[in-house]
Amino acid sequence: MVDGCNRGGMAEEARRQPVGDVLEFAAETVDAADVRRNPPWQILIVDDDHEVHAITRVVLGEMTFEERPVRFLSAYTARQARSLLAENPGIAAILLDVVMETDDAGLKLVRHIREEMGNRQIRIILRTGQPGQAPERQVIAAYDINDYKAKSELTAQKLYTATVAALRSYQHIATIERGRQGLERVMEAAVHLAGLRSRSQFLAGLVGRASALVTNATTALLCGAGENGGVAILAEAGLPADPPAEAVADIAAALAAAPGDGQVRWGVRHGVAVLRGRDAAPLALCLLGGPFAEGDRPLLELLCTKAAVGLDNLRLYERLNEAQVATVHALGKLAEYKDEVTGDHVKRLGRWATAIARELHARGDFPQELDDWFCDTIGLASVLHDVGKVGIPDAILRKPGRLDEAEMAVMRDHASIGGSILRDACGGDRRGYLSMGAEIAESHHEKFDGSGYPRGLVGDAIPLAGRIVAVADVFDALLHRRPYKKAWDIAEVLDLLRAESGRHFDPRVVDAFLAVLTREGAGV
Ligand SMILES: [Fe+2]
Repeated sequence: MVDGCNRGGMAEEARRQPVGDVLEFAAETVDAADVRRNPPWQILIVDDDHEVHAITRVVLGEMTFEERPVRFLSAYTARQARSLLAENPGIAAILLDVVMETDDAGLKLVRHIREEMGNRQIRIILRTGQPGQAPERQVIAAYDINDYKAKSELTAQKLYTATVAALRSYQHIATIERGRQGLERVMEAAVHLAGLRSRSQFLAGLVGRASALVTNATTALLCGAGENGGVAILAEAGLPADPPAEAVADIAAALAAAPGDGQVRWGVRHGVAVLRGRDAAPLALCLLGGPFAEGDRPLLELLCTKAAVGLDNLRLYERLNEAQVATVHALGKLAEYKDEVTGDHVKRLGRWATAIARELHARGDFPQELDDWFCDTIGLASVLHDVGKVGIPDAILRKPGRLDEAEMAVMRDHASIGGSILRDACGGDRRGYLSMGAEIAESHHEKFDGSGYPRGLVGDAIPLAGRIVAVADVFDALLHRRPYKKAWDIAEVLDLLRAESGRHFDPRVVDAFLAVLTREGAGV
């Protein structure tokens, strides 16, 4: 059904407008940079009357808003409009007829846009030639439209005014939405960065997130003070590019600025923000590309503030980690003074334990327990396996020859003594060298079949780190000479591992260890 529209006023004014090539007025005559800087507003005309399209283009063809021209898309049915909307997500406004292929095709399109597409930003001006078909009060109340015009009253001036108001309103909503999305990206980036535990990962993550955050950024550089007053690039993301001279000057100024100067230095082709932590030299985050949106400045500033806090936390974590490593080494040395076992055994044990853990992880075994942290920690934590020997009398610990049953019972206490010392030392921390060391100390003499000590745990009830260290400890002890025994041949040791698989040792751990030995040899 076709509208019987009366566009008298508008048509009369349109005839006075220069017609020209109004269908082609947009991007072809301007260069690509202008289009990037001033992209046209996209306006969709939906009407089954071709004349309405032509007149609208004549009336609004030369208009600009905020120095941006307009570009029209035309649909002659609601169905065509759906396709154009799906293909052009940046459409700012629709001039929409009501009666097209059906009496309410336009109204159904409104529902489709708002509810099915979830597009709340696009501004919808309803233009109807049959107000009786879609009474203004009912339509405004029932449909999420932004303006309602009867074609009979729509002069060129009124159409222009309504369109400018729609574009302004769309611009405000789009700005708020961009800001909301930007904030979401900053918060998401802050959470991601806070989870990283290495400085290089952190810096790489930061430049990656920054280049994705700022519109039209092609390159992100993280810079610190270099030699002789220069600038050193510590991390970069995006297209490889050297900062131009004016960007270098702003980076140097940002690095030298007084604390409290968190301002973003914003050039035509670059933006520089500073990260200032509590007790480290400042860093400058430089973005190249552009043109940049003014609204991206506070986002970049916020990202840098969050990242500076993240870097401070990372430094604290690194110090804590260094303190734990130093403690582990000191405790390991303490045990070495008491025992006749050399530091070399402990080092080899750590390497074997790490290799077994990585092999099991690569195979996908023990997914609940094994992760990168476990593999990175077990080597050093295993240094602590016999630390409980500090509590065993020298007469027993250094006794030449075999221990009797009573002495053996005392000797066995080293497992629970070690566990107890380390549990006290690690406090509530469940993911550190000391906590894993405690687990290893108290479980490395447990046996898979339940015949071990101190608790006689069976199978998976024995902590995985203890099961791994048990294999590595026995393997290395047998392969090397001790005061009370000669070194075994590798073949004899491997036979024992196979024989004890499922008895003393977890078969999956033995299997992984044999694969490591086959691949790397026993000389690691
Ligand atoms: Fe032991």
